[in-house]
Amino acid sequence: MAKYSIAWMPGDGIGNDVMDAARLVLDAMKFDAEYRPCDIGWEFWCKEGNALPDRTIKALEGTTCGLFGAITSKPQDEAKEELIPELKGKGLVYFSPIVKLRQMFNLHTNMRPCKSYPGNPLSYRGTLISNPSGGEVAIDQVVFRENTEGSYGGVEFYPLPESVYQALCLNPKMKPWKDKGLENVALSTRIVSKQGCTNICKQAFEYAKKTGRKRVTLIEKPNVLRETGGLMTRIFREVAKGYPGIWADEANIDAICMWMFKNPQDYSVLVAENMFGDIVSDLCAGLVGGLGFAPSANMGDTYAVFEPTHGSAPKYAGQYKVNPIAMLLTVKMMFDWLKEDDKATRLEAAIARVIKEGKVRTYDMGGKSSTMDVAKEIAKHAG
Ligand code: IPM
Ligand code: MG
Repeated sequence: MAKYSIAWMPGDGIGNDVMDAARLVLDAMKFDAEYRPCDIGWEFWCKEGNALPDRTIKALEGTTCGLFGAITSKPQDEAKEELIPELKGKGLVYFSPIVKLRQMFNLHTNMRPCKSYPGNPLSYRGTLISNPSGGEVAIDQVVFRENTEGSYGGVEFYPLPESVYQALCLNPKMKPWKDKGLENVALSTRIVSKQGCTNICKQAFEYAKKTGRKRVTLIEKPNVLRETGGLMTRIFREVAKGYPGIWADEANIDAICMWMFKNPQDYSVLVAENMFGDIVSDLCAGLVGGLGFAPSANMGDTYAVFEPTHGSAPKYAGQYKVNPIAMLLTVKMMFDWLKEDDKATRLEAAIARVIKEGKVRTYDMGGKSSTMDVAKEIAKHAG
């Protein structure tokens, strides 16, 4: 029997291309696993009215962890349009299967490292940035994104029911909305818990401590989102007390977008609730070459799903043209989680080497090589 059982979820579009690249590398590295293909994504929404079928949830329960490619999500009206005729008009509602997976399996921590590898022509201002205190440093950031709460909770209304309006009138600021007519009002909520905030802050500080990083920055907006942002900020300060050697720094989401652009080398570990973490992790990815270089891990207490931060890029689907590096860095994160340290080190070193040599590159890096050519080159050095 294989040592690990991996739920294999290519999903949509280029998810298939990059997962093929992952498989090539995993096999070259003699990873001792069986792979269980699982249905997930747009095709299953259209055919079955469910992008995350129950059989997939069951299958996942019997695996060590999951590897995921990419997902296509569309707004509600467009999604309904694409259902097969038999399923139209049945009141089916589309939800993002990856968001549902994160919540269903309580994968509370989304870790998104963004590193500028030497020689990557796409890194912001080149790989090394001169730093005001002298010397040159690379961008090396890790985002810890709360992964199950906040604006992703799915508690939304349109139009606004009278009963919900009445309940919200416990806060006097709600009253004037009735003047617009409740049928004209849409509501999305941002709900956070002490547990969720505490967990994500602890994960960020623990990681900083373990890896010798000296700064953890909270990204919030407590001057406007007084209750949710306020709770997160108070908890962050409390948790920080347990880590005296680490600088606990706070920034508003708008300001950090400017500061990270201006002085990206100053930031190390970033922690945020769900939506702000989503936003800032794309910004970090942009600084190190784009979504082709951004891996992520959705981790709970006993289960995890690993996915590149990028989407399904439908226009490139099946062309084996896109950069597989984000996916391969994602495999590296899976090795880390499984404590396959030697494999993790070898794979990252091989990726870094291929980036630096610059001989085999996909189109985004100015090359002509295919997804699989890059995977083969990396496998050659990692295997
Ligand atoms: C991400 C993506 C997802 C998210 C989408 C596809 C629902 O943007 O993983 O960052 O918003 O979490
Ligand atoms: Mg995102």
